[in-house]
Amino acid sequence: MRTQVGIIGAGPAGLLLSHLLALRGIDSVVVETRSRSYCEARQRAGVLEDGAVRLLREAGLAQRLDAEGLEHGGIYLQFAGERQHIDFRDLTGGRTVTVYAQTEVVKDLIARRLADGGSIEFEITDTAVAGLDTDRPVLSYTTADGQRREVVCDVIAGCDGFHGICRPAIPAGLLTVREREYPYAWLGILADVPPSTDELIYAHHPDGFALHSLRTPHISRLYLQVPPDEKIEAWPDARIWDALQRRFALPGWELKEGPVLDKSITPMRSFVSAPMRHGRLFLAGDAAHIVPPTGAKGLNLAMADVTVLSDALTALLSGGDARLADAYSATCLNRVWRATHFSWWMTSMLHIAPDGDPMTTELQLAQLRYVTASRAAATSLAENYVGYPALR
Ligand code: FAD
Ligand code: PHB
Repeated sequence: MRTQVGIIGAGPAGLLLSHLLALRGIDSVVVETRSRSYCEARQRAGVLEDGAVRLLREAGLAQRLDAEGLEHGGIYLQFAGERQHIDFRDLTGGRTVTVYAQTEVVKDLIARRLADGGSIEFEITDTAVAGLDTDRPVLSYTTADGQRREVVCDVIAGCDGFHGICRPAIPAGLLTVREREYPYAWLGILADVPPSTDELIYAHHPDGFALHSLRTPHISRLYLQVPPDEKIEAWPDARIWDALQRRFALPGWELKEGPVLDKSITPMRSFVSAPMRHGRLFLAGDAAHIVPPTGAKGLNLAMADVTVLSDALTALLSGGDARLADAYSATCLNRVWRATHFSWWMTSMLHIAPDGDPMTTELQLAQLRYVTASRAAATSLAENYVGYPALR
């Protein structure tokens, strides 16, 4: 088999790349270890930067996003018994974010690729790459019905997430990895209950961080800081609601409870591997970098990477111009490091250290008071949250 771009991973990065390339007449094959229904149901991100929304609109992918996405003009920061609003519209000249679940982005992308005749192979196994330093790299895998396939490509895009095979395929001595693990994790639930708030609430509390997010006007998404090695079995629904009630408590405000539809625990880390290219292999999204979810940046970074990559591959494969491909890694890493800093900063400001060090807590509270009292400090948070300059 032959294709121009072999894409490994049908997450947001791989699917969007395949679509952006198709718009420029470049063909690709997407391969994915999981089933279509698994990819469409995997609970993850929920917040899109304004640039990501614009990109999806320009790419003709925003019909449902425009109908169902919920525009949010700010967030609340809650600490020391106060809940303060950060008004993004006011602070950033009218910019906003949009709550539209990653599950929906993925459903829209899969439907569109298949409607356009795109090739996505689900439930494959034994993915391998070879010939990365030649101009005909080979992607091989075993199909769901057991046939071994070899696809000769011009380029391979490693969009296979943090645990994929592409980053490890780069000789270790050529990669620089910067990494930080945090001494806590997030327990996330999806609940069949209307959100109790009009904007997301990020809460600093002596028991630990909590986040009230949402998916639709009828479905809430809530998170709790828990120890990093916590087992989900230790958290029956009643214990989760009890902890959420304590961490969000505010006189005159009520947290509505409902049936828990999904629950899971996610470890938190910052991770950047550079460069994001080796020969004819280009890494994008979580395959190259991970941020803790506190700044809502991971999905947005994945989309930004593949936007840059689609331009670079178009120039390389249609016109033989390698300049954008050569600049790909540095172009992406600039944004990646900004988002890595912001996510680390939000995480450090809002989570309780396991040793409960009172000095750290006072420093966090001082920072939270500053960010909510100073227009300059609030503007910095707001412009990072709504996102970075236009992708194109
Ligand atoms: P992935 O979504 O991980 O996709 C990679 C795909 O590759 C997967 O489908 C995987 O099955 C497949 N794959 C892996 N190995 C192979 C292989 N060998 N062969 C073939 N296929 C393979 N980000 C935000 O921007 N905003 C948020 O609000 C936010 N909240 C989050 C909340 C949580 C709880 C979590 C866990 C993450 C959150 N993120 C958020 C991060 C965001 O979900 C990720 O950054 C995003 O999924 C990255 O997309 P990706 O396509 O790079 O990787
Ligand atoms: C989510 O809705 O899943 C979400 C929102 C904001 C974050 C992280 C996750 O910072």
